[in-house]
Amino acid sequence: MAAWSKRLHREGVTIGFVPTMGALHAGHRALIRAARLACDAVVVSIFVNPTQFGPTEDLSKYPRRLGLDRSLCRAEGVDVVFAPDRDAMYPPGSQTIVTVPALSRRWEGEARPHHFQGVATIVTKLLSLVQPDTSWFGQKDYQQAALVRQLATDLNLSGRIIVHPTVREADGLALSSRNVYLSAQQRQAAPVLFRALQAGAAALRSGARKGPQIRRHMVRLVAQEPIATIDYLAVCDPRSLEPLATVQSQAVLLGAIRIGGVRLLDNLLVTVRTSSRRPRTALHESR
Ligand code: PAF
Repeated sequence: MAAWSKRLHREGVTIGFVPTMGALHAGHRALIRAARLACDAVVVSIFVNPTQFGPTEDLSKYPRRLGLDRSLCRAEGVDVVFAPDRDAMYPPGSQTIVTVPALSRRWEGEARPHHFQGVATIVTKLLSLVQPDTSWFGQKDYQQAALVRQLATDLNLSGRIIVHPTVREADGLALSSRNVYLSAQQRQAAPVLFRALQAGAAALRSGARKGPQIRRHMVRLVAQEPIATIDYLAVCDPRSLEPLATVQSQAVLLGAIRIGGVRLLDNLLVTVRTSSRRPRTALHESR
């Protein structure tokens, strides 16, 4: 992978990179298409990274469909599918882990204590190998995207980081490889998270500014769905991801719920500034 990238850089070819854990869906396809438009060559990595799963999480049953994923990549004109095995990425004896402490502490970090050091470590390794000019991450995993941006800045990793808007089903459910675990009844209940976030965003846009009050509004909405339980719903600063007592100009509404055994994440970024120019957030700026 590294030799190929070096050769392409020598020839002046730009490399776009989409890191994934496979089970590719329309959300990944959108990232690949954005990379295809912006760069000469596109690399997709497919690696179910064991270090970002906790001991009780779904590593062994995480969907693996390399054949189908390769076909999708071929159809989308991807130049390289980089699908290393575990030993290639973590050879026996490897020790180094990467942590981004403040951005890892809350939300997903509370529910999944070692998750983000696994993500930070593998993303550092992938960016070092692929040496992309630009990499694409989905906004659905907002905290991950914020952490990757911080990591890439702090460690001077290769290229720009672009965060692509969440791709949704018609009823608002954010696309995720884990949606395949939902039964028909659970699938019907799942959009409640998006509806709650939308209600929070609507409250903000119509003048509510108190974080706790907006949060309670979202909690009440999810509570109407009997098979959903809330992991967290929060009104946060889009950069630090700390909860906001009062929203000034922008907030990210973060949410995670469980339906049956399936954990669903989503978020909405809301701007309440009245200026006519659409401000860009910390997350969407690229370096
Ligand atoms: O979002 C994912 O699919 C993974 O967390 C990533 C970024 C590929 C790292 O394993």
